[in-house]
Amino acid sequence: MRHDHLITSKQLSRADIETVLDYASEIAADPSAVADKHAGRLLGLLFFEPSTRTKMSFETAMKRLGGDVVDMGSVESSSVKKGETLADTVRVIEGYADAIVLRHPKQGSATMASEFVDVPLLNAGDGAGHHPTQTLLDLYTIRENAGLDDLTIGIMGDLKYGRTVHSLAYALTNFDTRQHFISPESLRLPREVVYDLHQQQDRAGIREHESLEEILSSLDVLYVTRIQRERFPDENEYQAVAGEYQIDAETLEDAREDLTVMHPLPRVDEIAPEIDRTDHAAYFEQAHNGVPVRMALLDLLLSNHGTDGVGELGEGGHDE
Ligand code: NCD
Repeated sequence: MRHDHLITSKQLSRADIETVLDYASEIAADPSAVADKHAGRLLGLLFFEPSTRTKMSFETAMKRLGGDVVDMGSVESSSVKKGETLADTVRVIEGYADAIVLRHPKQGSATMASEFVDVPLLNAGDGAGHHPTQTLLDLYTIRENAGLDDLTIGIMGDLKYGRTVHSLAYALTNFDTRQHFISPESLRLPREVVYDLHQQQDRAGIREHESLEEILSSLDVLYVTRIQRERFPDENEYQAVAGEYQIDAETLEDAREDLTVMHPLPRVDEIAPEIDRTDHAAYFEQAHNGVPVRMALLDLLLSNHGTDGVGELGEGGHDE
């Protein structure tokens, strides 16, 4: 795979992650330094699934770099409705834009699409697959609140279909972390993801649980996710697990005072609004961090693209 496409977090080494996060911190401290850097450049937005944060923060990021966006708009209003293939759509858009952001309901679609284009393609979510730019802003938020090394994190909710979980879990194996996965049996991590995680990290670093109580008091970070209703083949299966694993003030009574609670959002009912007012809540800050992180990422990829053809990111896997 070309190095300037970002398709999964597996591509990101610790050095890549630190490059993006350090640069995002610099940009957050002084956004004016890059305000005109990409004037005249265009980012193509192709969202085949609903999005608020990811799409708007990419758009904000590109505009804050001096650039602009071209947006396919809704699937309903595009030629996809006429039966156009994804391969044809991305080939057309690369003629309009300097980079492409793609969200698509089908797992593997970003990999496939990236094979048809020369401009950098960023996966903004492929079905239950990956969501690597969300991972970068998640890591940024974790680093700001708890630090990335010697970290004990609980990842809870829909671990089967949650692409933010798959991407984050993999990226965290670059650091000294203990990851606890909490879900009902039916929504545990796909076995191939667990296998992959074990390949990267000692078994001691990865644990699965059905109950949060067992480990809550040891956590630095609790990352809560929405049950991905739209991915359930059968609504009854969704109803069987809906409403489980909710967090409220009572749930957090045994948590450490400095526990950071995160959520990629949107939340449905996983975190009670009473938590929003506590020092635990970091999910809105997390969403805001999407702008400097995506500015850093876009700047790194766009600055490099077209020079030697190799981006600064994704030299592949772990620094060993
Ligand atoms: C997530 C997604 O689309 O995977 N949203 C986001 O990008 N912040 C999480 C979700 O939809 O539950």
